[in-house]
Amino acid sequence: MAITIRTPQEIEKLRRSGQVVREVLEHVRKAVKPGATTLDLETAAAVKIRELGATPAFKGYRGYPCVLCTSMNDEVVHGIPSAERKLRDGDIVSIDTGVVMDGYYGDSAITVAVGREVAARTKKLLAVTEASLASAIREVKAGATLGDVGAAVQETVEAEGFSVVRDFVGHGIGTRLHEDPQVPNYGTRGLGQKLKAGMVLAIEPMVNAGRPGVQVLKDGWTAVTEDGSLSAHFEHTVAVTDEGALVLTR
Ligand code: MF3
Ligand code: CO
Repeated sequence: MAITIRTPQEIEKLRRSGQVVREVLEHVRKAVKPGATTLDLETAAAVKIRELGATPAFKGYRGYPCVLCTSMNDEVVHGIPSAERKLRDGDIVSIDTGVVMDGYYGDSAITVAVGREVAARTKKLLAVTEASLASAIREVKAGATLGDVGAAVQETVEAEGFSVVRDFVGHGIGTRLHEDPQVPNYGTRGLGQKLKAGMVLAIEPMVNAGRPGVQVLKDGWTAVTEDGSLSAHFEHTVAVTDEGALVLTR
């Protein structure tokens, strides 16, 4: 229940982990191309995480088998990398990873379009989802509430006719991958937990082009849209300050 307030020294450690996550994601982004498999992305990430002296945060977490989640097209989150999943021109793939260094966690995700034949509506879904994360981050400041953060995501997404996934939420992060509070991507301004300087949050809007419903496949992990529509996901780890958000995974 309790939300931990981190010291400046702890925030610095969280920033170091956040920087590793950023480097890994940018490295993997370059490996996204038609013909690559999601297992190729996993391998590139695993090598990079080791090179940078960090430990993967996802592998082994509740039995999750990989260092990345790679969620293609109608997959929302928690897609498992596989040699059987080949990226094709026009696909989208969400790449989500976390690391731990010196006991402190970082977590971030991007969604990338594959190749050149990407539909205008698909590009729009990616842009709006990334913009919804930016709008959430602009709300973060001591004294604001989680309702302000969720409302910002929801307004950005729904103004474009897309929908916010409710079955998964962002989270506090620090010396564990998932800490309190939960960070929904919907809400009402002025309601919910009040933010205090030193809180650290992973904000991660998941946005569907169609209806908001999702279901988890029989592998126990992969969440897909119920209506088969495309889904995008962006995530940053941010620290709350009196002035605003400090984005630790930038
Ligand atoms: N970014 C996701 C989250 O914060 C990834 C978790 S995947 C898991 O929930 F494998 F670690 F569960
Ligand atoms: Co997360």
